Parts: sequence; structure tokens; C-alpha cells
Amino acid sequence: MQNFPTSFLALAMSAQVFAGDPPAMGRVLFQNLCAQCHGPKGEGSLLVRSPSIAGLPEWYLQAQIDNFQAGRRGFHPQDPEGQMMRAISKVLNPEQSKQVLEYVSQLPRQVQGATIRADLTVGREIYAGRCMECHRFNGEGELAFGAAPLVGLQDWYLASQLKKYKNGMRGVLKEDVNGQKMAFSSSFIEDEATLKSVAAYLLTLSESIR
Ligand code: HEC
Ligand code: HEC
Repeated sequence: MQNFPTSFLALAMSAQVFAGDPPAMGRVLFQNLCAQCHGPKGEGSLLVRSPSIAGLPEWYLQAQIDNFQAGRRGFHPQDPEGQMMRAISKVLNPEQSKQVLEYVSQLPRQVQGATIRADLTVGREIYAGRCMECHRFNGEGELAFGAAPLVGLQDWYLASQLKKYKNGMRGVLKEDVNGQKMAFSSSFIEDEATLKSVAAYLLTLSESIR
């Protein structure tokens, strides 16, 4: 019994250190629950088709975890990547989600090399005419519109998401207001060649953060 108060105190203190240092808890959660798919630096993986999430802003990360948890993303039977991420999102409670996302947002961004070869001209024109107003001239996104940052993401991932918006796998549910805005915008990308050109062009915006 003599020892009880001191060990209790030590435990309480270490819990407090943890509670007062969310990145520490966030790191543990990230390494255990996310790194196997998103990579140890959050750099993403073509093999599992996971995006490079390192350094994305917390508001966007949280919005997407909310979308996965609520089934606004990852609901389509022909969207295995979304379904996988939706399943994982469900193990996070709100506190854990806040901690892990704060950690992810503080990781340095990771830019991957090009996997899509395409003429950038069409992509540049489409971006200036149809995308820039929401995603901004440098592709950094815009909190006020909920518009995702596009820099840092892989070209094949950007292409896959544009396809999902076009094919009714993302941004279709009634309550998904931001997703619907984006699904509408994706309709200006008319064919596969245009889509490749847009995705290839978007990767060039990442030069600014390399
Ligand atoms: C089993 C593999 C797997 C695990 C584990 C996993 N993810 Fe994912 N995650 C994915 C895939 C695949 C996607 C792409 C989904 C798509 O194509 O719509 C994704 C997408 C995301 C996105 C959306 C990014 C964007 O740009 O819209 C976020 C945010 C995310 N994951 C965070 C996490 C966090 C945080 C963890 C740990 C708690 C985690 N993921 C664990 C596979 C995984
Ligand atoms: C009206 C504003 C608006 C316009 C215009 C717009 N977007 Fe978006 N975009 C958004 C919003 C909002 C989101 C986040 C939607 C969500 O939560 O699913 C988004 C998401 C995205 C994503 C997903 C990023 C990720 O990490 O998964 C890509 C890729 C994208 N936009 C590309 C484009 C391209 C290319 C264009 C031009 C053809 C475009 N957007 C035009 C508002 C817009």
C-alpha cells in the first residue's frame, strides 16, 4: 500500500504527458493504424493505391475521415480502395482521429514522381478555366470552399479520384455538398486523354513544395 500513491501519481503524470502532447499519441496511432498502408512518412503507396497524406491540412483530413465514417465515401461496391479506408476510419473515435490527423498534418509533405505521360497543354487550360477558382492558382486548396489541396498528391491518385467523381463513386450522396460541387466540376473532363493531361498537369503544381 505504501507504494500505491507514488505509482498512481507516476501513472497519472505519464497520462498527463500523453494527454498534453497529442503528436506523441498521434504518432503511436499513425504507426500502428496508418503506416502499413500510407507508408512510415505518410508518402502513400501505389501498391495499395493509398494517397500521400503527409502535410495535408487538418481540416481537409478531418472532412474526409468524416466522409468515410458517414459512408459518403467508400460506399460503392466497385471502389475497393474507398471501402478499405472506410473500414479503417471506423476504428477511430473522435479524440483519436483528432490526434492522428494533427500528427499527419505536421509531417513534411511527400511528393512522388510522375507515372502519367501526357501533353500538359490541355490540362493547364482546363485547370485555369475550370478548377483554379476553387483550388487556387497554386493548387493549395481553399478552406472557405472545402476545396482539397491538390499539391503533394500522386498523379495516379488524382486521376483515380477524378474518375470516382465522374463515375458516381464519390460526391454523389445528397448530403455530400462539397463532393457534389466537385462531381459537377469533373464533368468538364470529357475523355481519358483529357483526364490524364489534367492529372499530369496537377503534379507539376507540386514543384513549388518539392
Ligand atoms: C488498409 C490500408 C489503409 C489503412 C490501414 C489506412 N488507409 Fe487511409 N486510405 C487508404 C486508401 C487505399 C485510400 C484511398 C481511398 C480512395 O481511393 O478513395 C485512403 C485514403 C485516405 C484519406 C483521404 C485522403 C485524400 O486526399 O482525400 C485519408 C485522410 C486517410 N486515408 C487517412 C488515413 C489514416 C489517418 C489512417 C490511420 C488511422 C489510414 N488512412 C489508414 C488505405 C488505408
Ligand atoms: C466549385 C469548386 C470546385 C471546382 C471548380 C473544382 N473543385 Fe475539385 N474539389 C472541390 C471540393 C469542395 C473538393 C473536396 C470534395 C470532397 O470532399 O469530396 C474537391 C476535391 C478534388 C479532388 C480530390 C482530392 C483528394 O485529395 O482526394 C481532386 C483531384 C480535385 N478536386 C480536382 C479538381 C479539378 C481537376 C478541377 C477542375 C476540372 C476541380 N477540382 C474543380 C471543389 C472544386
